[in-house]
Amino acid sequence: MTQFPKGFLWGGAVAANQVEGAYLEDGKGLTSVDLLPTGEKRWQVMTGKVDSLKPVEGEFYPSHEAIDFYHRYKEDIALFAEMGFKALRVSISWARIFPNGDDAEPNEAGLQFYDDLFDEMRKYDIEPVVTIAHFDVPVHLIEAYGSWRNRKLVNFFETYAKTIFTRYQDKVKYWMTFNEINMLLHLPFVGARLVFDEGENELQIKYQAAHHQLVASALAVKAGHEIIPDAKIGCMLAAGTTYPYTSNPDDVAKAMERDRESFFFIDVQSRGHYPGYAKRFFRDNDLKIHMEENDEELLKNHTVDYIGFSYYSSRTTSTDPEILKDITDGNVFASVANPYLKASEWGWTIDPKGFRITANQLYDRYEKPLFVVENGLGAIDKLNADGTVDDDYRIEYLKEHIAEMGEAIEDGVDIIGYTSWGPIDIVSASTGEMKKRYGYIYVDRDNEGKGTLKRSKKKSFDWYKQVIASNGEKL
Ligand code: BG6
Repeated sequence: MTQFPKGFLWGGAVAANQVEGAYLEDGKGLTSVDLLPTGEKRWQVMTGKVDSLKPVEGEFYPSHEAIDFYHRYKEDIALFAEMGFKALRVSISWARIFPNGDDAEPNEAGLQFYDDLFDEMRKYDIEPVVTIAHFDVPVHLIEAYGSWRNRKLVNFFETYAKTIFTRYQDKVKYWMTFNEINMLLHLPFVGARLVFDEGENELQIKYQAAHHQLVASALAVKAGHEIIPDAKIGCMLAAGTTYPYTSNPDDVAKAMERDRESFFFIDVQSRGHYPGYAKRFFRDNDLKIHMEENDEELLKNHTVDYIGFSYYSSRTTSTDPEILKDITDGNVFASVANPYLKASEWGWTIDPKGFRITANQLYDRYEKPLFVVENGLGAIDKLNADGTVDDDYRIEYLKEHIAEMGEAIEDGVDIIGYTSWGPIDIVSASTGEMKKRYGYIYVDRDNEGKGTLKRSKKKSFDWYKQVIASNGEKL
């Protein structure tokens, strides 16, 4: 039985646009994620096939009301406290603080909202863990500057980061700069709000935007450390180790390359320099990354304190065209089906042991504390008449994953916390659905936005409560 460290940060994680709603309230500006509808159309927008910088009349946008956390956070935090949460990961909506992104002054009402939110958490001794950018870019920054293509975003982001570090310096110690920063390569709309014109060199634009985010991240780490000397500022990787489909060295080399696509970001954020394999990749693909004079020094001097990561599944790759035909489309990160593993209802591979392997891989590589800031199972729940849900499948998933996290700790991996994804049902990032539920708490709302928004406890609620109370002993 694993002994989880004393003070281990058990809790849950959400993102502003997936819970808050109130999308234009109290001065908030419109953001990229407010323009994501549901279903097939969402995918078209996310992959840049359809573009609009304004909501389209008659279209349903789930983020506009989401689960109305903006008005109901007190009730939700009381429920998290009842489960014994030690930490809650939230993100700040950039456009609540700077509605246009380039405003001369921040929006006081937006700042006040997060003050109140953090006070409410602190009331129950829940440690706020804050993501500075979780997939959102103020729409004005897209219209006026072209989003992260433009170097100017670095300064706007720096101002935003400095503003929130200063404001919340006594309330927030754990920060993360960009959520799943490597997502930029796979879903550039989501990661950096990039949409491409016909004939553009997409790879060049993506890596230049990535450089901008990496510099912005380093500047935020610098500012954070100056303003809050005891702050812990992390990066955030969409993790999940890549297995070669066979022992054919070609497959093994391809798996290594696939992993490096993601590690690239963290290598820069944690080791402080562009790795050799990235330079080779740029050479081979004729990419030229424009850097300013002291970028390299900034990256070198302002590395992260810990490695935050999400883990939902492992990935598998092959060089065999026949095997490659069997790509699971559920994962944003294309993966061939692994014959040893099952998948969720959304086609996400379920691999608890891969969690242990991933944690070990990250710790071997960076030797910095790890923080598991997302993990969980998106599933369809059946509501009982009394408002409960018998979500044994969710308990099973979490139990197996937490057990493997324990194994990683036994392996010597320094893990400081675990915030499972969506402790309360929220809007799905990839599909916009409500029926893809992760929560211990059920929210009465459906894919079309109907429902009372009433909260009720699922079976997993008491289960997770006992996990936390026993510090991971009783799974
Ligand atoms: C991560 C994101 O990619 O996965 C979250 O950081 C997201 O925002 C989570 O919600 C689960 O994905 P989905 O599509 O099931 O909501």
